[in-house]
Amino acid sequence: MIAEVILAASAGVAAGVVFARRPSAAVGNGESAHVETPGAEGSDSRFDQLLRSLTVGIVTVNARGQIDSLNAAAATIFELGARPVLGRALIEAIPSFELDRRVREALGGHPSRGRITFGAASDAPTLAVATLPLDGTDGALVIASDETRLFELEQTRRDFISSVSHELRTPLSSINLMIETVLDNDGDQEALDLFLPRIKQEVDRMTHLVVDLLELAKAESGRLRLRRETIDVSKIATTALANFEPRAERLGVRLGFMGEAARLDGDPDRLAQVFVNLIDNALRHTPSGGSVDVSVVPQEGALTIVVSDTGVGIPFNDLPHIFERFYVVDRSRARDASGTGLGLSIVKQIVEAHGGTIVADSVFGRGATLTCVFPVARAAATPA
Ligand SMILES: Nc1ncnc2c1ncn2[C@@H]1O[C@H](COP(=O)(O)OP(=O)(O)OP(=O)(O)O)[C@@H](O)[C@H]1O
Ligand SMILES: [Mg+2]
Repeated sequence: MIAEVILAASAGVAAGVVFARRPSAAVGNGESAHVETPGAEGSDSRFDQLLRSLTVGIVTVNARGQIDSLNAAAATIFELGARPVLGRALIEAIPSFELDRRVREALGGHPSRGRITFGAASDAPTLAVATLPLDGTDGALVIASDETRLFELEQTRRDFISSVSHELRTPLSSINLMIETVLDNDGDQEALDLFLPRIKQEVDRMTHLVVDLLELAKAESGRLRLRRETIDVSKIATTALANFEPRAERLGVRLGFMGEAARLDGDPDRLAQVFVNLIDNALRHTPSGGSVDVSVVPQEGALTIVVSDTGVGIPFNDLPHIFERFYVVDRSRARDASGTGLGLSIVKQIVEAHGGTIVADSVFGRGATLTCVFPVARAAATPA
C-alpha cells in the first residue's frame, strides 16, 4: 500500500535527525522513488537500521517543499549540525538555490541527477545529488553522496595535465622559433652557432622534465624500487658537494660540509638525487657571498640530513606547498628561471620510500633549511 506515508518525524535520532518510522522505500532506476508501508513492525526497524547505516544522505520533502525526514548521513553531508530541520522549508535548512530548484522540478514530476557544489570556497563540498518524485505521494526524495575528494582528484589531474602541457609548450615554441630563424638564414653558420646551443639547452630542459615526470609517476604509483645496500651517507653528500664545487665557485657561494661517517640501509643513487636536488635549490636561491651548508648527523635510531643556505628563503605561506608537484614560489627569486617545481616532490617521495620524513624551515630573506630524518636500525646507527 502506497501510503499516507511517511515520515512522521518522531523516531529518536540525535538532534532532530529522524528516520521514517514506518515506511520502506525502494528507489527505482532514476525515474521515481516508490514508498510503501511495510506490514510488520520488525521490517520497520530493519528499515530504520538500513537507513541509519547508509553512507548516502537521504532526505524526503513534502509537496510544500518542507523536509519530512532525513537520515544521519544526510545531516552530516549537508552539515546540518544539531539544528532541528524537520518541517522547515528545504531552502532554509540547506541554503542552495540549485538544490531547491531541482527539488521543485522533482515535485513537478521531473527527476534529475548531477553534482552540486555548496558555496564558492576552494574547499567547498561537492555532492552528487539525485532528486526524484516520490511515487504515490506529492513529495520528492533527495539522495546525496559526498564527492568532494573525487572532485578534488579530478581537479588535480586537470591541473597536472595543464601544467605539463604548459611546461612542454614553452620550450617547444622557442625551439620552433629558433629553427625557423636558422632556416630563414639558409643554414647560415653564424645563425647555427648562435641557436644550436640554445636549442640543445631547451631540449635538455625538456628531457629533464620528462625524466622527472616519469620518476614521479613511478614513485607515486608505488613502483619506486630501492636498491638498498649499506651506505655511508656522508660519502654520498661529499661526492655531491664536490660535483657542485665548480658551479658554486662561479656563483661566489661557499659550500660547507659537517658530518661523520653515517651508515644507512638505503639506495645510493636515490640518496645522491636527494642531495643533488637540495643543493641545486639552495645554490639557485643564494646570492653571491652567501653559503650552502650540508650536515649529516647520525644519532641513536635516526639519521638526520640538513641542507641549509643563506639565500632568499621561502615565504611562510609557501612553506607547506613547496613539496607539491609544479609548485614554484616565484620564478624571479631564483638566479635562473629553469625550475619546473618537480625536484622537491621527487625528493619527498625518495625520502618517504626510505621510511623518512622531510620538512622545510625558513626565515624569509634569511635562507632556507631542509631537514630529512631517516629511521635507522639500532645496530646500524653506530658510525661506519
Ligand atoms: N633553498 C631554497 N630557497 C628558496 N626557495 C626554495 C629553496 N628550495 C626550494 N625553494 C622553492 O620551492 C620551489 C620548489 O622547489 P623544487 O625543487 O620542487 O622545484 P624547482 O627547483 O623550481 O624545479 P626543479 O627542481 O624541478 O628543477 C622552488 O621553485 C622555490 O621557489
Ligand atoms: Mg629544485
